[in-house]
Amino acid sequence: MAVRYVVEGGKPLHGEAQVSGSKNAALPILCATLLYPGETIIDRVPQITDVEQILLLLQDLGCQVRREGERIFVDATHAQSRPLPREKTSALRASVLLLGPLLGRFGEVDMGLPGGCAIGRRPIDYHVDVARQMGAEVQRKDGSVGLRVSSLMGGQVVLPEVSVGATENALLLAAAAQGPTWIYGAAREPEIYDLAGFLQQMGISVCGAGSDRILVCPKAMTATQYAVMPDRIEAGTLLAAAAGTHGKIFLHDADWRTMGRILSFFGRCGCRMGVEKGGLWLKAPKRLRACPLLLTKTYPGFPTDMQPLSAAVLTTAKGTSMIMEQIFENRFLHLKSLNAMGGRTACSGRVAVIDGVRCLQGCVVKATDLRAGAALVVAGLMAQGETVVENGQYIQRGYGALEQKIERLGGRIRLEEGR
Ligand code: UD1
Repeated sequence: MAVRYVVEGGKPLHGEAQVSGSKNAALPILCATLLYPGETIIDRVPQITDVEQILLLLQDLGCQVRREGERIFVDATHAQSRPLPREKTSALRASVLLLGPLLGRFGEVDMGLPGGCAIGRRPIDYHVDVARQMGAEVQRKDGSVGLRVSSLMGGQVVLPEVSVGATENALLLAAAAQGPTWIYGAAREPEIYDLAGFLQQMGISVCGAGSDRILVCPKAMTATQYAVMPDRIEAGTLLAAAAGTHGKIFLHDADWRTMGRILSFFGRCGCRMGVEKGGLWLKAPKRLRACPLLLTKTYPGFPTDMQPLSAAVLTTAKGTSMIMEQIFENRFLHLKSLNAMGGRTACSGRVAVIDGVRCLQGCVVKATDLRAGAALVVAGLMAQGETVVENGQYIQRGYGALEQKIERLGGRIRLEEGR
């Protein structure tokens, strides 16, 4: 359903907020529950539409799914590898993470290509290549892919480029393979470490997650209960809102250990931060400093998912900032809206230049994807007057009750059903 966020800006955020479980960790972990023919309990699952979509897909595959607040019960005893048509898989990018568990447990998978945010090409060739290296036969059809394997072979898997999702599928396949598997060229994102933690809890031995070489030794799986890590991007979003409005906030459960370059970005802009009592605080100066060069990189670099949020914050920083987007080729669509709000930005290819202005003016803008939408909400909080962010359903894909968290921090925001 179309929704929009109406934001009355110009008020510094102050107070405390709770960080939810990580979207990008919860999605692969929920897919991984398919590997175990019994009940698995996952805690701290964010209440977002991407999670709802993946739960629907698990139900389509024969899993029994139950939610109690942030706790999800998945019973995959009677799961089957049924074909997943494109209409179902295109709802989100993470549907591709069903490939590993389905092929691993049942030896076959037929699925439509995934969808997701329009931030670049987003092919799945690395995912398919990993399966092929482990012995799968691949049949590509228009808009879908079919894979078959009689026995998944461990051994060595080499990822051609660093990819978060393909590393996760490699882990999921390796967990169900014959014998140990070395994964070379793995992505190092904390969400991969979290998936490895879940698999370990299930009884599988995983060494080296968080580095570019991971060793997976499959063992008999057991019933598991696991809590998803806190969302470092949601935490970064709330910090951006506090920094951009010159406020001061404390985030419960924000994990500084996973947020290195996010925190150094706010530090470079002149914010002060500290870690205490299981969370972290940020206090912003009256005017932020520009960031002469900000590069998005794979972990431990500055995450591409924080790039639109950093752009919003930098629109009113003193001086000129430059951002280089190195992960996705089409991730500056938010700049047009920031300019409509009085920002002074320009981009060419993967480089954006932002000249800081004194303040933004509210207006009607449209979210083009999840993080770009969140960036426009942050810009709305920074702006004078009212900002309406249309296509708010993109934001709901990855943020649970964002408006309530911002309201509790003193921001003036409401969610409306779109017309
Ligand atoms: C994940 C995150 C997303 C984040 C991204 C990069 C989830 C659900 N999503 O997405 O929020 O922005 O990591 O940190 O965890 N590529 C290929 N072929 C492939 C796979 C990827 O060419 O088969 C390319 C992509 O187009 C992109 C790059 O590799 O340019 C990195 O993408 P990847 O790390 O795979 O991102 P996702 O796992 O889709």
